[in-house]
Amino acid sequence: MAVTADSAGEDITMKKNNDIKTILNENRMFAPSDEFASGSHIGSREEYDTLYHQSIDNPEQFWDRIANELHWFKKWDRVLNSENAPFFSWFDNAKTNLAYNCVDRHLGSALRNKAALIWEGEPGDQRILTYWELYREVNKFANALKNLGIKKGDRIAIYLPMIPELAISMLACARLGAVHSVIFAGFSAESIRDRVNDCQARMVITSDASWRKGNILPLKNIVDEAVAECPSIRDVVVVRRSPASTFPCHIKEGRDHWYHRLIESVSMVCPAEEMDSEDLLYLLYTSGTTGKPKGIIHTTGGYMVYAYLTMKYVFDIKPEDVFWCTADIGWVTGHSYVVYGPLINGATCVMYEGAPDWPDRGRFWEIVEKYGVSILYTAPTAIRTFMKWGAEWPAKFDLKSLRLLGTVGEPINPEAWIWYHKIIGGERCPIVDTWWQTETGGIMITPLPGCIPAKPGSAGLPFFGIEVDILTDEGKPADAGYLVIKKPWPGMLRGIYGDQDRYKNTYWSKWPNVYFPADGARRDDDGYFWILGRVDDVVNVSGHRIGTAELESVFVEHKGVCESAVIGVRHEVKGQALVAFVTLREEFKVHEDFEQELADWVTAKIGKFAVPEKIIFTADLPKTRSGKIMRRLLRDIADGTALGNITTLADPSVIASLKTKYEED
Ligand code: WT7
Repeated sequence: MAVTADSAGEDITMKKNNDIKTILNENRMFAPSDEFASGSHIGSREEYDTLYHQSIDNPEQFWDRIANELHWFKKWDRVLNSENAPFFSWFDNAKTNLAYNCVDRHLGSALRNKAALIWEGEPGDQRILTYWELYREVNKFANALKNLGIKKGDRIAIYLPMIPELAISMLACARLGAVHSVIFAGFSAESIRDRVNDCQARMVITSDASWRKGNILPLKNIVDEAVAECPSIRDVVVVRRSPASTFPCHIKEGRDHWYHRLIESVSMVCPAEEMDSEDLLYLLYTSGTTGKPKGIIHTTGGYMVYAYLTMKYVFDIKPEDVFWCTADIGWVTGHSYVVYGPLINGATCVMYEGAPDWPDRGRFWEIVEKYGVSILYTAPTAIRTFMKWGAEWPAKFDLKSLRLLGTVGEPINPEAWIWYHKIIGGERCPIVDTWWQTETGGIMITPLPGCIPAKPGSAGLPFFGIEVDILTDEGKPADAGYLVIKKPWPGMLRGIYGDQDRYKNTYWSKWPNVYFPADGARRDDDGYFWILGRVDDVVNVSGHRIGTAELESVFVEHKGVCESAVIGVRHEVKGQALVAFVTLREEFKVHEDFEQELADWVTAKIGKFAVPEKIIFTADLPKTRSGKIMRRLLRDIADGTALGNITTLADPSVIASLKTKYEED
């Protein structure tokens, strides 16, 4: 039996009251130094205002000019086509190739011999690939894929740790016009299976193993388990990551191929496929409010232009910079700001394979010092973890190479912002808090570093071409309410794979012609946006989106579980944490380790990162008279706040017993 989700967006003001109070008290402003401003791409508020107004008043002219900075085999007939809104298209009939723009475009200049990728493995091994070397590796692997019969439009799942072959695989796919679907390497076999089957991928690219805190995890075994139930998979490509002598890996004859064998004797020249601007570039699955993850569709031309421009201006990227985005490529942040954004700008990008506390808690700062990282982009949850570990770790290293810092994934609390500013940024680096989503393709709201003073906790002002507003439930503009985007932008998703009705309903139907990201927000007197968090049943744990309905249906699939309700609660380090309330089948005998059994169940079904902080067994769940679970009440119980309105509750005694139960746990 599945449980139904409450209506999206129930009383966001109640839910977010505490957040509003905290950030209302926050009015400090941090302007960039004159030195930073004068050297940056956009160095004054006037310049920002002029460009912003151009981009909003005349978007087609604006994006036409930007797109002309990149390589196109053929230019567009028109910039934006809104005829089938919300199925917008960008750069109609233009032909380009993203891998060509990321790599080949730079080979005629001094960038040819510049480091494109500086990679450090968890055990301390390193690889530095210049643009020329990246060109060679991408072409070789593209030819290897071709030899296996891969052609334009084929879907390829990529399940790899943070190793150079992950970026190379994505670029090789883009070069051939194959559609990549990267699956974060923390996902379970069942999650891989569902994602592969949803898009009918014909190949998985994986590795024999991955490193995590000194241990070797058998990645390929997980893929073997998954593809046993994936009839569309014809080939599995396996990158060797473990020391060959110590780690056996089963290779299934005819299906599995070692990556290093495939590229042994292929040509290092592979022409880039001329892709239509609206040809699929990639799918990336993300959680929504139902049990089924959504395959977010990104296409070629618009995504490319948007990743290019956001990277350039938000990170003020220069040829001499060493940019490090700590996100895993399995999430959208890694797609846009580890791989595509940096490369398309000809930047040098650091990629790190492992954990921040391996072999000790100084690893990140050691990497910053070692490679002279100048721009660091990470998540608030990481910053809060570093705060807990103490300033003595970063103090051991020279962080003076840093000139700009960024955050992404969730609202940053002012305390963490100030710590980042002082301890990591030495009070000299601007901080760009960047609000965006898997669906938006790139950064949407941020204080541009050279021209917009930052306020700790605020995501700042809209990026070029992004018209942001806040609406009430009735669709009236307000200073607090639902965040909306009122114009299409080039990096926007083009749909949900195989379910365009869901695309329309989820994002474009709350109000006519308005994109609804499902976040609550507030706007202050200076026009700055303060993001208050999700208003749907999606919980943001350490910057990872987890749909409560998805988790609930995983629980009820277990033979012992009758019903479950999952909520998000505030968490000091993770931002939000999951709490599951579970009722058990009467005939089912609960044993001592049942909580652990359910945790293992979630690990097997989704992945370890989705295991709730607390699982509470209860005889009953609070329901309305019509039988809907009242999650708001559960949240109130977990938050320890007032019980809210319980007049519609069928059996009020449920609350009291639940509250006792929760507090006992
Ligand atoms: C959700 C999107 C896009 C990067 C990684 C997450 C939350 C993201 C911020 C921020 C406040 C933020 C929102 C958004 N979020 N960045 N700077 N301040 N909230 O991508 O998994 O698609 O999640 O993350 O709630 O809707 P995602």
